Amino acid sequence: MHMSLADNTRTLDQIFTRAPLLPVLSIQREADVLPLADALAAGGITTLEVTLRTPLGLKAIARLRAERPQLTIGAGTVLDGRQFQSVLDAGAQFVVTPGCTDELLTLGLDSPVPLLPGIATASEILMGYRLGYRRFKLFPAEVVGGIAALKSYSGPFQGIRFCPTGGIGLGKLTDYLALDNVMGVGGTWMAPKALVEQGDWAAISRLCEESLRLLPAGQQARR
Ligand code: 3PG
Repeated sequence: MHMSLADNTRTLDQIFTRAPLLPVLSIQREADVLPLADALAAGGITTLEVTLRTPLGLKAIARLRAERPQLTIGAGTVLDGRQFQSVLDAGAQFVVTPGCTDELLTLGLDSPVPLLPGIATASEILMGYRLGYRRFKLFPAEVVGGIAALKSYSGPFQGIRFCPTGGIGLGKLTDYLALDNVMGVGGTWMAPKALVEQGDWAAISRLCEESLRLLPAGQQARR
Protein backbone atom coordinates (compact mmCIF):
# COMPACT_ATOMS: atom_id res chain seq x y z
CA MET A 1 0.00 0.00 0.00
CA HIS A 2 1.31 3.45 -0.86
CA MET A 3 1.01 6.06 1.83
CA SER A 4 1.06 9.82 1.41
CA LEU A 5 3.91 11.79 2.88
CA ALA A 6 1.52 13.31 5.44
CA ASP A 7 0.47 9.80 6.52
CA ASN A 8 4.11 8.82 6.84
CA THR A 9 4.90 11.92 8.91
CA ARG A 10 2.08 10.92 11.26
CA THR A 11 3.47 7.40 11.47
CA LEU A 12 6.94 8.74 12.33
CA ASP A 13 5.39 10.88 15.06
CA GLN A 14 3.66 7.83 16.50
CA ILE A 15 6.90 5.85 16.41
CA PHE A 16 8.91 8.56 18.18
CA THR A 17 6.15 9.38 20.67
CA ARG A 18 6.12 5.75 21.74
CA ALA A 19 9.89 5.41 21.69
CA PRO A 20 11.98 8.60 21.66
CA LEU A 21 15.28 6.73 21.94
CA LEU A 22 16.49 4.91 18.85
CA PRO A 23 19.40 2.51 19.20
CA VAL A 24 21.45 2.23 16.03
CA LEU A 25 22.66 -1.34 15.55
CA SER A 26 25.27 -2.85 13.24
CA ILE A 27 24.88 -6.61 13.59
CA GLN A 28 28.19 -8.48 13.36
CA ARG A 29 27.03 -12.04 14.24
CA GLU A 30 23.79 -13.71 13.42
CA ALA A 31 23.67 -15.31 16.85
CA ASP A 32 23.48 -11.82 18.42
CA VAL A 33 20.30 -10.72 16.65
CA LEU A 34 17.65 -12.04 19.03
CA PRO A 35 19.57 -11.78 22.33
CA LEU A 36 20.54 -8.19 21.51
CA ALA A 37 16.97 -7.22 20.62
CA ASP A 38 15.74 -8.97 23.76
CA ALA A 39 18.31 -7.16 25.92
CA LEU A 40 17.19 -3.81 24.52
CA ALA A 41 13.54 -4.74 25.02
CA ALA A 42 14.23 -5.86 28.59
CA GLY A 43 15.66 -2.39 29.17
CA GLY A 44 12.47 -0.78 27.84
CA ILE A 45 13.49 -0.10 24.23
CA THR A 46 10.82 -1.01 21.69
CA THR A 47 12.07 0.55 18.46
CA LEU A 48 15.39 -0.34 16.82
CA GLU A 49 17.31 0.82 13.77
CA VAL A 50 19.23 -1.99 12.09
CA THR A 51 21.81 -0.62 9.68
CA LEU A 52 22.97 -2.06 6.40
CA ARG A 53 26.57 -1.47 7.46
CA THR A 54 27.11 -5.17 7.86
CA PRO A 55 26.06 -7.90 5.44
CA LEU A 56 23.71 -9.24 8.12
CA GLY A 57 21.58 -6.08 8.22
CA LEU A 58 18.85 -7.21 5.83
CA LYS A 59 18.64 -10.67 7.30
CA ALA A 60 18.43 -9.24 10.82
CA ILE A 61 15.56 -6.95 9.84
CA ALA A 62 13.62 -9.88 8.33
CA ARG A 63 14.32 -12.11 11.31
CA LEU A 64 13.29 -9.51 13.89
CA ARG A 65 10.08 -8.77 11.98
CA ALA A 66 9.25 -12.47 11.94
CA GLU A 67 10.34 -13.39 15.44
CA ARG A 68 9.88 -10.21 17.48
CA PRO A 69 6.70 -8.69 16.02
CA GLN A 70 6.13 -6.65 19.18
CA LEU A 71 9.18 -4.48 18.32
CA THR A 72 9.29 -1.73 15.70
CA ILE A 73 12.15 -2.30 13.29
CA GLY A 74 13.64 0.44 11.14
CA ALA A 75 16.40 0.14 8.57
CA GLY A 76 19.39 2.47 8.65
CA THR A 77 22.32 3.45 6.47
CA VAL A 78 20.16 3.12 3.38
CA LEU A 79 22.22 4.79 0.67
CA ASP A 80 20.32 4.36 -2.60
CA GLY A 81 17.15 3.20 -4.26
CA ARG A 82 18.22 -0.40 -4.52
CA GLN A 83 18.83 -0.60 -0.79
CA PHE A 84 15.57 1.25 -0.13
CA GLN A 85 13.66 -1.46 -1.99
CA SER A 86 15.60 -4.25 -0.28
CA VAL A 87 14.75 -3.00 3.22
CA LEU A 88 11.07 -2.66 2.26
CA ASP A 89 11.19 -6.25 1.04
CA ALA A 90 12.78 -7.32 4.33
CA GLY A 91 9.86 -5.75 6.22
CA ALA A 92 11.43 -2.56 7.61
CA GLN A 93 8.81 -0.35 9.27
CA PHE A 94 10.71 2.88 8.62
CA VAL A 95 13.81 3.87 6.67
CA VAL A 96 16.65 6.12 7.83
CA THR A 97 19.29 7.59 5.53
CA PRO A 98 22.47 9.41 6.55
CA GLY A 99 21.88 12.13 3.96
CA CYS A 100 19.42 12.99 1.22
CA THR A 101 19.52 12.60 -2.54
CA ASP A 102 16.79 13.25 -5.09
CA GLU A 103 16.47 9.50 -5.55
CA LEU A 104 15.89 8.76 -1.85
CA LEU A 105 13.60 11.74 -1.26
CA THR A 106 11.50 10.80 -4.28
CA LEU A 107 11.20 7.18 -3.16
CA GLY A 108 10.10 8.33 0.30
CA LEU A 109 7.25 10.41 -1.12
CA ASP A 110 4.86 7.51 -1.62
CA SER A 111 6.67 4.79 0.24
CA PRO A 112 4.59 2.26 2.22
CA VAL A 113 6.67 3.12 5.30
CA PRO A 114 8.12 6.47 6.38
CA LEU A 115 11.50 7.78 5.31
CA LEU A 116 13.48 9.80 7.85
CA PRO A 117 16.01 11.58 5.65
CA GLY A 118 19.37 12.65 7.04
CA ILE A 119 20.31 16.31 6.78
CA ALA A 120 23.28 18.35 7.94
CA THR A 121 22.47 21.85 6.65
CA ALA A 122 19.61 24.32 6.29
CA SER A 123 19.72 23.88 2.52
CA GLU A 124 19.18 20.13 2.84
CA ILE A 125 16.21 20.76 5.12
CA LEU A 126 14.80 22.97 2.37
CA MET A 127 15.37 20.27 -0.26
CA GLY A 128 13.14 18.00 1.80
CA TYR A 129 10.75 20.76 2.86
CA ARG A 130 9.97 21.60 -0.75
CA LEU A 131 8.73 18.04 -1.23
CA GLY A 132 6.73 18.02 2.00
CA TYR A 133 9.17 16.43 4.44
CA ARG A 134 8.86 17.77 7.98
CA ARG A 135 10.87 15.21 9.99
CA PHE A 136 14.62 14.72 9.59
CA LYS A 137 17.58 12.95 11.12
CA LEU A 138 20.27 15.50 12.02
CA PHE A 139 23.50 13.71 11.18
CA PRO A 140 26.22 13.60 12.36
CA ALA A 141 24.59 15.67 15.10
CA GLU A 142 27.58 16.50 17.26
CA VAL A 143 29.71 17.39 14.24
CA VAL A 144 27.19 19.63 12.47
CA GLY A 145 26.32 21.86 15.39
CA GLY A 146 24.35 19.63 17.75
CA ILE A 147 22.24 21.46 20.30
CA ALA A 148 23.27 24.92 19.07
CA ALA A 149 22.28 24.05 15.49
CA LEU A 150 18.91 22.66 16.59
CA LYS A 151 18.20 25.82 18.59
CA SER A 152 19.06 27.91 15.54
CA TYR A 153 16.81 25.78 13.30
CA SER A 154 13.82 26.29 15.61
CA GLY A 155 13.46 29.90 14.40
CA PRO A 156 13.19 29.50 10.62
CA PHE A 157 11.93 25.92 10.56
CA GLN A 158 8.77 25.95 12.61
CA GLY A 159 6.85 22.68 12.54
CA ILE A 160 9.98 20.75 11.66
CA ARG A 161 11.30 18.17 14.10
CA PHE A 162 14.50 16.22 14.24
CA CYS A 163 16.06 13.02 15.48
CA PRO A 164 19.68 14.05 16.15
CA THR A 165 22.08 11.14 15.83
CA GLY A 166 25.85 10.85 15.79
CA GLY A 167 28.19 11.28 18.70
CA ILE A 168 25.45 11.52 21.35
CA GLY A 169 25.72 9.56 24.58
CA LEU A 170 24.16 9.53 28.03
CA GLY A 171 25.95 12.76 29.01
CA LYS A 172 24.23 14.99 26.46
CA LEU A 173 20.94 13.18 26.14
CA THR A 174 18.98 15.35 28.58
CA ASP A 175 19.97 18.56 26.83
CA TYR A 176 18.94 17.22 23.43
CA LEU A 177 15.63 15.84 24.72
CA ALA A 178 14.78 19.20 26.28
CA LEU A 179 14.60 20.89 22.86
CA ASP A 180 11.11 21.46 21.44
CA ASN A 181 12.15 20.49 17.92
CA VAL A 182 13.69 17.18 18.99
CA MET A 183 11.30 14.22 18.63
CA GLY A 184 13.87 11.61 19.57
CA VAL A 185 17.56 10.82 19.76
CA GLY A 186 19.42 8.03 18.03
CA GLY A 187 22.78 6.44 18.58
CA THR A 188 24.89 3.44 19.35
CA TRP A 189 25.50 4.21 23.02
CA MET A 190 22.74 1.88 24.23
CA ALA A 191 24.37 -1.15 22.60
CA PRO A 192 28.12 -0.51 22.53
CA LYS A 193 30.11 -2.81 20.28
CA ALA A 194 32.25 -4.18 23.11
CA LEU A 195 29.25 -5.21 25.22
CA VAL A 196 27.63 -6.90 22.23
CA GLU A 197 30.88 -8.76 21.49
CA GLN A 198 31.05 -9.94 25.09
CA GLY A 199 27.38 -10.88 25.06
CA ASP A 200 26.87 -8.73 28.16
CA TRP A 201 23.13 -8.45 27.64
CA ALA A 202 22.43 -7.41 31.23
CA ALA A 203 24.75 -4.40 30.88
CA ILE A 204 22.96 -3.39 27.67
CA SER A 205 19.56 -3.61 29.39
CA ARG A 206 20.90 -1.44 32.21
CA LEU A 207 22.20 1.18 29.75
CA CYS A 208 18.76 1.33 28.13
CA GLU A 209 17.04 1.73 31.49
CA GLU A 210 19.48 4.45 32.48
CA SER A 211 18.86 6.26 29.18
CA LEU A 212 15.08 5.99 29.44
CA ARG A 213 15.19 7.44 32.94
CA LEU A 214 16.54 10.65 31.38
CA LEU A 215 13.41 11.21 29.30
CA PRO A 216 11.35 14.18 30.43
CA ALA A 217 8.55 12.99 32.73
CA GLY A 218 5.82 13.53 30.11
CA GLN A 219 7.64 11.37 27.60
CA GLN A 220 8.14 8.58 30.10
CA ALA A 221 4.42 8.55 30.80
CA ARG A 222 3.64 8.18 27.09
CA ARG A 223 5.59 4.96 26.73
C1 3PG B 1 24.40 6.68 12.88
O1 3PG B 1 24.67 6.33 11.77
O2 3PG B 1 23.24 6.93 13.18
C2 3PG B 1 25.54 6.94 13.81
O3 3PG B 1 26.67 6.27 13.34
C3 3PG B 1 25.27 6.61 15.22
O4 3PG B 1 26.46 6.28 15.85
P1 3PG B 1 27.00 7.01 17.18
O5 3PG B 1 25.86 7.16 18.12
O6 3PG B 1 28.03 6.06 17.66
O7 3PG B 1 27.59 8.31 16.74
